[in-house]
Amino acid sequence: MKIDDIRKVCVVGAGNMGHQISILAAIRGYRVSCVDVNEKQLQKARGFAEKYLPGRVAKKKLTEDQARQAWDNLEFNTDLKKAAGDADFVIEAATENLELKRKIFEKLDQVAPPHAVLATNSSFIVSSMVADVTSRPGKVCNMHFFNPALVMKCVEVVKGPHTSEETAALAMELARSLNKEPVELQKEIYGFLVNRILSAINNEALYLLDQGVASAQDIDSAVVNALGHPMGPFKLQDLTGIDLTYHVMMERYRETGDPADKPSPTVVEKYVKKEWGQKTGKGFYDYGK
Ligand code: CAA
Repeated sequence: MKIDDIRKVCVVGAGNMGHQISILAAIRGYRVSCVDVNEKQLQKARGFAEKYLPGRVAKKKLTEDQARQAWDNLEFNTDLKKAAGDADFVIEAATENLELKRKIFEKLDQVAPPHAVLATNSSFIVSSMVADVTSRPGKVCNMHFFNPALVMKCVEVVKGPHTSEETAALAMELARSLNKEPVELQKEIYGFLVNRILSAINNEALYLLDQGVASAQDIDSAVVNALGHPMGPFKLQDLTGIDLTYHVMMERYRETGDPADKPSPTVVEKYVKKEWGQKTGKGFYDYGK
């Protein structure tokens, strides 16, 4: 399959990442079905698109025609068979749970056309952990976007041992056609490139906070004003979700068995209290209702 053969993209999951990947692909001219089992999540995603697209017109980033076309390209539904049945490329962006993803890939393999690529946007689950439930492992890869996906230019395309050259090249081309600057990883590694680098920063920031050296606000301020990052590590975890930080660290700890990889006490406490950041209204910062 060539890039021009991709007409329809199916995005599985309308959460933090899925809704933005869907809108992005619709803006870039693809027909998109965003599918989720949770009707409320779909309504939220639809509501975001309804506000976001006119907002882009008001900011003169899209013409009215482009916004209308993007809206017409978008479809939100709860039926995976309908959403993926005529898709050329599927991006799975469901909850970070391996068993769930394996079930989704098994089902996708049954309902998506044989030529369709099945990619996962997972932040840490490598595609070889889901490729084996499909009859098309050569067409399975990681395609990892960053939050907010409508804005961040990087996409990590990770080639598993099963991924064909053609699939990796197609995922790179699709990312470019979504106006991204993709990077290609030649082999699977836990955390890929970005989350490995980010974890080093987050771990040190959490250590400094747990030691009472400085407040989250001051650590963020130092990182922004001394290192030039657009936001500090605590603001960023509030954006990406402290539940994700917890799962990423737990997964790494399970893999290495190294106590240094365990989530910090602050992360565990926030995870248990459901203070997961912007999505629950409170994380390291308070977002009110
Ligand atoms: N959704 C969509 N667009 C958004 C947005 C959001 N949540 N937040 C901001 N934007 C857009 C704005 O519309 C604006 O677009 P235009 O310039 O085209 O009009 C642009 O981003 C800048 O927005 P603002 O001026 O309001 O705010 P800002 O300059 O502070 O930028 C930010 C906000 C883009 C989020 C910036 O702070 C940033 O780059 N932060 C770092 C984000 C980051 O590091 N992401 C990676 C996270 S790690 C990850 O995702 C890994 C993983 O596995 C989960």
